[in-house]
Amino acid sequence: MSSATSVVTLSRAGNVAVLTVNNPPVNTLSIKVREETHAALDEMAGWKDVKAALLICEGRTFFSGADINEFAGPPQEVAYRQMFARLEQLAVPLVAAMHGTVMGGGLEIALAGHYRIAAPGTRFSFPEVTLGIIPGAGGTQRMPRLIGVEKTLDMILNAKPVDAKTAVEWGFVDAIVEGDLKEGALRYAERLIAEGKGPRRTSERAVDPKTCTPEILERMNALAAKLYPNRVAPYTAIKAVRASLDLPLAKGLELETELANESKATPEAKGSIHAFFAERETRKIPDLPPDTEARPIKQAGVVGAGTMGGGIAICFANAGIPVTVLDATDEALKRGMAGVDRTYESMVKRGRITPDEKAQRMSLITPSLGYEDLKSADVIIEAVFEDVKLKQDVFRKLDAVAKPGAVLGTNTSTLDINEIAKATKRPKDVIGLHFFSPANVMPLLEVIRTDDTSPVIVKTVMELAKPLRKTPVLAKVCYGFIGNRMMEGYAREAGRMTLEGATPREVDTALEKFGMAMGMLAVFDMAGVDIGVKVHQANADRYPPDPTYYQSDFALYEAGRLGQKTGKGYYRYEPGDRTRHDDPEALAILKARAEKLGIERRKHTEQEIVERCIYPLMNEGIRILEEGIAIRASDIDVVWTAGYGFPRYRGGPLYYADTIGLKTLLDGMLKYQKIFGPMHWQPAKLLVELAEENMSLADWERARRG
Ligand code: NAI
Repeated sequence: MSSATSVVTLSRAGNVAVLTVNNPPVNTLSIKVREETHAALDEMAGWKDVKAALLICEGRTFFSGADINEFAGPPQEVAYRQMFARLEQLAVPLVAAMHGTVMGGGLEIALAGHYRIAAPGTRFSFPEVTLGIIPGAGGTQRMPRLIGVEKTLDMILNAKPVDAKTAVEWGFVDAIVEGDLKEGALRYAERLIAEGKGPRRTSERAVDPKTCTPEILERMNALAAKLYPNRVAPYTAIKAVRASLDLPLAKGLELETELANESKATPEAKGSIHAFFAERETRKIPDLPPDTEARPIKQAGVVGAGTMGGGIAICFANAGIPVTVLDATDEALKRGMAGVDRTYESMVKRGRITPDEKAQRMSLITPSLGYEDLKSADVIIEAVFEDVKLKQDVFRKLDAVAKPGAVLGTNTSTLDINEIAKATKRPKDVIGLHFFSPANVMPLLEVIRTDDTSPVIVKTVMELAKPLRKTPVLAKVCYGFIGNRMMEGYAREAGRMTLEGATPREVDTALEKFGMAMGMLAVFDMAGVDIGVKVHQANADRYPPDPTYYQSDFALYEAGRLGQKTGKGYYRYEPGDRTRHDDPEALAILKARAEKLGIERRKHTEQEIVERCIYPLMNEGIRILEEGIAIRASDIDVVWTAGYGFPRYRGGPLYYADTIGLKTLLDGMLKYQKIFGPMHWQPAKLLVELAEENMSLADWERARRG
């Protein structure tokens, strides 16, 4: 006996009713799944001699969570609650058999079951607070009944996956099933029947008060404060979980629904959800002909085995794509391969990969000194020194050997890719592929199309980003592309304020309190103060005639303070330690430079520091949008959240501009223009227009789409 609709199948194995869900790709608990589950339960109610029920999913995972597309619509908590209550009230024992990545709502449905078993590699998590919300389908009430308040909050606040073994130790999974999950689950259900076990409802359990002492709650509040500055969702989650101690399940669930809906309305939830969807939008390119097909990428090449080339090669090897890495000298090549080996070795040490996986991935990377070895590559990425003549020379050689239709990419950060493309007879195949350091870790990939890049190359690269595990954002050629162009004003002001008397620590602390992953000056120290200085020296004619421009960097550079690598930069560092120490010597250098430039010294409030850095950043982003360098505002947001440590819970710089209001931003730009002059404080034309019409960037984009 079996009946199937489109995503839920009800079948029978002896006395066990089996509900199988197949809602690819990741079995979200969509409205369809919910409706069909209700229908299946209706049908099952008519079946005779059912003594146990099994809930299992096909495909790569058990329910991965709620359908995030529903977040935009009306609240769904009550629908979830009703469905889960129905499962929990079944008169026969219900076994949830899990595999894959069981997150949020996926875990909550299992908690409404009576017994839980899992395949060995299964991982469980509550990621909600990272999206500014809280578990809203029973998680805050049922989980503490199984594992206590402390461990539940540990899961919710850390938002990190818990493995199957830990899940069993903690007690929210009953057993790990080796071998075929469905067979194991049926055996498990039959054993329950044989042993005369009935339903074991989570709702009928009480929370252990020892797991909810004032000390524990204090520790959890401290953890929330440490992990989530500026946010409220973690505290809302603590409140909800805390309530499970005193309230019966039904009342607790009502409170949870109320709190979950409150949390969805907060700016942090809206910002985080914006960031989440923004990342899924970037591959949509409106002007590509709809029939454009990506070319398959089976082999890759990288030219230049330095910091970036090595990291890029690792990305390919991790994706299972064989890659040939070429350098000019045997010495450079050996150094590069040793770097790759070190990176993999540290992954092994941290338990991220096994020694076998390391060996397997290393075997996909072939070092080479001859361009001939690149002739069968489907994509070749150049990452040699930042010198246009050198890069043109490399591209001439690539043109001579690369197979027709191969993607020819350059990782340049500052050079004109049109100029590089001209060195070849196939400029349509040339494209910018701007990885971020370390290339194997940073998720952002800026993709830069020239005037000539063909749609098929754009499409191929945007698709290639998937196996490389990168978030691609498409841009047109301009100096600095999206990310670095916006950084110019942000970094300029951070440095400038240290000449005006703010300490590096004051500047960085204000930016970090705002939510930046790392203050700008600490970033300079990490990347190398010399890197920025050299870019400014090489491109002096592009920058405004401001004698104070990036002078804090120049002053430190001239004093040999290159950042962490020399133990001194804006801060001082002990050998082998990245802790920032204030350094009076750096302050004296900055003060002397300020005196030489005639810059008056004064105190800065945190508000001024943040405004002076973030306003130019947002203003330049608006200019990039207005010039059509980026396709959409949310792409610019992704660049800064994925590549530059802008807080995701603020959505990204342009989303944040709409949040504070374009009028506020314009007024801010004009306020600083009065003090510092128009050279750096010219509001973008689009900003002025929209602020005057009281429109947001989102309104403008909607109107443009028509
Ligand atoms: P690097 O100095 O670490 O490596 C450059 C490598 O290119 C060296 O191994 C060198 O031997 C090799 N090389 C030089 N001439 C060559 C030639 N004719 N043929 C083959 N190999 C040659 O430099 P890094 O930092 O890896 O930068 C490479 C490129 O990536 C530059 O264009 C840079 O602007 C860009 N980039 C760098 C980032 C960073 O954070 N380091 C971030 C994003 C882009």
